Amino acid sequence: MTTTIYVFSGTGNSLWAARSLAAKLPCARVESVVRASCGSPRVDSDSVGIVFPVHMWGLPPRVVELASRLEVPAGAYLFAVAVNAGQVARTLVQLRELLEERSLKLAAGESLVMPSSYIPWGGPGPKRKQEARFEQAREKLDALSARVARHEPGQIEVGPLWQRLAFTAAYKATYPHLGRMDRRFWTDERCNRCGACARVCPAANVVLDSGKPHWQGRCEQCFACLQWCPRQAVQYGKKTPRYPRYHHPEVRVGDIVDLAGGGERASEAKA
Ligand SMILES: Cc1cc2nc3c(=O)[nH]c(=O)nc-3n(C[C@H](O)[C@H](O)[C@H](O)COP(=O)(O)O)c2cc1C
Ligand code: SF4
Ligand code: SF4
Repeated sequence: MTTTIYVFSGTGNSLWAARSLAAKLPCARVESVVRASCGSPRVDSDSVGIVFPVHMWGLPPRVVELASRLEVPAGAYLFAVAVNAGQVARTLVQLRELLEERSLKLAAGESLVMPSSYIPWGGPGPKRKQEARFEQAREKLDALSARVARHEPGQIEVGPLWQRLAFTAAYKATYPHLGRMDRRFWTDERCNRCGACARVCPAANVVLDSGKPHWQGRCEQCFACLQWCPRQAVQYGKKTPRYPRYHHPEVRVGDIVDLAGGGERASEAKA
């Protein structure tokens, strides 16, 4: 049995989840959703997973794109993990419907609650609460990996009705404007022009001008640029200077650069 797990991740929670699943399955590999968007996302695995963060109560644009192009063998077992901070809303139903349009069946859709990467609403919460979420996530991933190994259908998890009604409308209203929402990013005096914010960006949306970051209006709102800045110099709106940064403790900045293809961009710029 072989498994391919596609992953998109800003602060590493989804990457950690994808790696944890891969470690429990035989012949499993983790592939970047961003890298897959450069070519044809065609896989020949028996099981195919998509692991991603919930953004604005729905799918991030990269995952919408992957779902509309993914090619898998007939009969492959398709599963998804929507990593979120407690409001999964209707995200996994959105994914199921997108796949159904292409006659692909989502066999299982799991919601995984992890610390929040959405810093405009505050930090990731106390360490104790973060640990409790990691522990619950480990248990859910254990159960999911067993189900994937048996190709056993599972549920498509959803949030409560009020979430699905109110927030699906909010998602639809926000989605067309995501690219330009980077107008609220700015850098403070701590920026030392190291370029990490540009390398972690999955959309090549942070461009350095004499070393100083500028956002280009094609943002995917993953918040990697802000959360991974080693000097905490990237801000968004007025409140972020007083909120703590977050990334998953077992994920390193190089892992996110690799997912985003930022290393290649940096070498091309030098050549
Ligand atoms: C722009 C943005 C929007 C978000 N929207 C939601 C949301 O609607 N519901 C939710 O539960 N969490 C939301 N989050 C939190 C992330 O889904 C959550 O922290 C996730 O674990 C991040 O995964 P990552 O580290 O792989 O990027 C949002 C985060 C960002 C950056
Ligand atoms: S990562 Fe931070 S310090 Fe480095 S260039 Fe970007 S804003 Fe400046
Ligand atoms: S600019 Fe920042 S928030 Fe937007 S896609 Fe790039 S890394 Fe993510």
